[in-house]
Amino acid sequence: MNYGDWAVLVDTKGRKYLLRLKEGGRFSHHRGVVEHAAIVAAGPGGRVRTHKGEPLWVFAPSLEEYVLLMPRGATVTYPKDAAALLLLLDLAPGMRVLEAGTGSGGLTLFLSRAVGPQGEVWSYERRPAFRKQAEANVRAFGGENVRFFEGDLAEAELPEAAFDAVALDLMEPWKVIERVVPALKPGRSLALYLPNITQVVELLKAVGTARLPLKKERVLEVQHRTWDVRPPVAHPSFRQIGHTAFLVQLRRLKPESEQGRQGEEEGGDQKEHGVSEDPGQRAAQ
Ligand SMILES: C[S@@+](CC[C@H](N)C(=O)[O-])C[C@H]1O[C@@H](n2cnc3c(N)ncnc32)[C@H](O)[C@@H]1O
Repeated sequence: MNYGDWAVLVDTKGRKYLLRLKEGGRFSHHRGVVEHAAIVAAGPGGRVRTHKGEPLWVFAPSLEEYVLLMPRGATVTYPKDAAALLLLLDLAPGMRVLEAGTGSGGLTLFLSRAVGPQGEVWSYERRPAFRKQAEANVRAFGGENVRFFEGDLAEAELPEAAFDAVALDLMEPWKVIERVVPALKPGRSLALYLPNITQVVELLKAVGTARLPLKKERVLEVQHRTWDVRPPVAHPSFRQIGHTAFLVQLRRLKPESEQGRQGEEEGGDQKEHGVSEDPGQRAAQ
C-alpha cells in the first residue's frame, strides 16, 4: 500500500470509510485521528489505532466497497445487481459493451473490469455533471478501457452489430431501445436495471409493439438475505437490503429477412420474434 492508493478503514461497529492516501494526510474518525503514514505502514489486512486508541482495520477497497463509498451524483446500480448483470450479459475479457446512463459510473466499473484491458465500454450520459463525476470515479479506480460520451443515447450514432452486450440503467429505456438493438450483435444480450415493475411492463410493451427482434430471456430479482451469526445468536439480520430493482434480459435475434425457412416449414414459431406474450404484442395484433 502506497501514497496515492485507495484505502478502506473499518471500525469496530463495521462502518467503512474510503480515503485516498497522501503524504502528510490525516484521517479523522469521531473517536480520534490517524496519520496516513500509519495506514501505509499497516497495509491491507493490518490494523491502526487512532490517537484515542480506537482500532481501525485497513483494506484496499473491493470493487463493491469502492462503488458504494465513492462520490456520487446519480444513485448507483446496486453491486449485487451489477454482478448479476455481468452474468446475464455473459461478459468475458476482450468484449465491447454499450452502457447508458453512466450515472456515477458504478455499473461502468463492473463492466470495465469484466471486459478487461483488451475490451471496451462505451458509456453514454446526458447530464454533463454526472458524466464528469463518473469519469473521475472510473479513472480514479483504474478504468482505462471506458469511452465516455456526453449526450442522449436515443440520438447516438452507433456502429451496427458492434457490441457484445448492452446494459441500460435509465428511467425510460423504451425511448432508446430501437436505437440500440441494431448495435447489438445477433445472439447477444441486452440487460436492463429497472426499479419498478411498471417500467418492466412498459418496456416489454414497447418491444412487442415495435416488433423488435428481441427474445425475452428472463425477468428476475436478486435477493441477498444476510444472517447475524454470533453463537448462540444466529438469525437473519434484522436490517436487510430491501428491493433494489428488477433485471430484464433480452436477447437479440437476427432480422426476419435473414431467418432461414426451416422454422416456417416446421410451423414457423412466431413467438421467437418479439416479446410475443406481453400485453403490447397482443395490442398490436
Ligand atoms: C440511475 S442513473 C445510472 C446509475 C449508474 N448505473 C451507476 O451505477 O452509477 C441513470 C442515469 O441515466 C441518465 N440517462 C437517462 N436517460 C438517458 C438517455 N436517454 N441517454 C443517456 N443518459 C440517460 C440519467 O441522467 C442518469 O444519470
